[in-house]
Amino acid sequence: MDEIIRAVRDCPSGALSYAIDGREAREQTDYHNTREPVIEVSKDGPYRISGGIALIDGEGNDEHRNQGASLEHYALCRCGHSQNKPFCSGMHWHVDFHDRQSMKFAFDLWSYADVKQHAGAILERLRNGSMPCDGAWSQERVDVFQRWVDSDLSA
Ligand code: FES
Repeated sequence: MDEIIRAVRDCPSGALSYAIDGREAREQTDYHNTREPVIEVSKDGPYRISGGIALIDGEGNDEHRNQGASLEHYALCRCGHSQNKPFCSGMHWHVDFHDRQSMKFAFDLWSYADVKQHAGAILERLRNGSMPCDGAWSQERVDVFQRWVDSDLSA
């Protein structure tokens, strides 16, 4: 039983669950909701969310989850190819997603110096929706980037 709990707990997608006597045992796999809120950008994979960060849709409603899915941790698609958006469906493996190479023809997204050097052009493309390639950012996200540019691009 411990192995099952561990497997469910360690599933970054939060999609696995189990029940005891027909009753969902989510509290055992969600660390009793005691983890600090964290958003991790996984290498060549999804955003891994933990710590019970709420996920709401564009109208302010809770994003729908499949029955038994964790509200404490989940993975959000970053490759743009998920079959279960906004969640990761594992398609990043199939499409051979490599985040570091995605803009390499222009600059290295993981290089502070490169992003800083191209910040103006990046901001312009974020504003007109031609970047990133998997869909335009919300105005709120563009504003965050704008504030970073306005702050003299501090690290
Ligand atoms: S990051 Fe996993 S499907 Fe997109």
